[in-house]
Amino acid sequence: MKGVILAGGLGTRLHPLTKITNKHLLPIYDRPMILYAIDTLKKSGLEEILIVCGREHAGHFMNFLGSGKEYGVKLSYALQDRDNGGIADALSYAEDFSDKDSIAAILGDNIFQYDFKQAIQKFEDGAKAFFKQVKNPRRFGVPVFNTDKTKILKIEEKPKNPKSDFAQVGFYLYDHSVFAAIRKLKPSGRGELEITDVNNLFLKRGQLHFEFIKGFWSDAGTVESLFAISTLIARQKTKKKESKRHD
Ligand code: G1P
Repeated sequence: MKGVILAGGLGTRLHPLTKITNKHLLPIYDRPMILYAIDTLKKSGLEEILIVCGREHAGHFMNFLGSGKEYGVKLSYALQDRDNGGIADALSYAEDFSDKDSIAAILGDNIFQYDFKQAIQKFEDGAKAFFKQVKNPRRFGVPVFNTDKTKILKIEEKPKNPKSDFAQVGFYLYDHSVFAAIRKLKPSGRGELEITDVNNLFLKRGQLHFEFIKGFWSDAGTVESLFAISTLIARQKTKKKESKRHD
């Protein structure tokens, strides 16, 4: 399986920072955000990676990451024509790269302290989405469960009245039929092709698998979350340094 990092979008919630460069190149403590997504894919056993990014700052990605050799991965790049096309539109650019195999997609602003190795090894067909309990589900794709949470009935994108307190995190596994599914999509209210609509299509066919993840997860798409994650990572790294000094 190969990995795709979806790193498009205008990052309007991070203006004026994203007027300088793309959101995914902004620092999280001591490293640009995109390196965290590369690490998650690497830890999950995926080293052949496509980065889908917008046109405006595409050169910044290539100048910084190059072939990926320095980071132990093999990188390719694809340019998304429409910056506000949405996550599913960005994923459609990975069709040739996937070479008819299954694919793992990660949102470039999602920070995980978790690996998906087992899920990838077990994955057979259809799609797999991952969920985590959160305090503020309104910002996310939110699943509607049956009573014992063994089944998802549907996923609602940024609902005003969330039916659960779980968020769909930005990591997805798909077999090759995802590209045909994306071609069937219509733009949502915000004018984007939504990843939640893709997952609901698989759900209707009885082919959406899901799992609850453990470990830290956050998206870094707002000033508040960017700052909170940087602070957390700073603390973790300082602690590590201090415990090494005491060894
Ligand atoms: C996207 C997805 C949403 C998901 C979230 C995770 O939202 O549309 O379903 O829960 O990523 O970060 P965005 O914040 O990109 O609009």
